[in-house]
Amino acid sequence: MMREKVWQDVIAVAQLEPGDVTPVTAGDRELAIYDTLDGIRVSYARCTHGAANLCDGYFDGCHIECPLHQGLFDARTGAALAAPARVGLRMIEARVENGMVQILI
Ligand code: FES
Repeated sequence: MMREKVWQDVIAVAQLEPGDVTPVTAGDRELAIYDTLDGIRVSYARCTHGAANLCDGYFDGCHIECPLHQGLFDARTGAALAAPARVGLRMIEARVENGMVQILI
């Protein structure tokens, strides 16, 4: 039987890098928290193209560029925008509640 998803705290909003991407570990998951122009977004931190951590990449408030081969993703939607990235980011549903970033997992 599948466990029902629940909202879990991952980090206080005050601890985020404003306008940037912040690495967070939640259990055994390595996540990237993006403070985008449209609000907080969360994805798995590993690039979908290879073994790079997107938290080490360049973030402009909307797009995250992979530090290894410069694949480009839209951090708001997860869409892959530029080669060699072809597969979109694995996004995790997120919200802000009582000053905490929460993920539905
Ligand atoms: S590992 Fe990210 S683009 Fe290649």
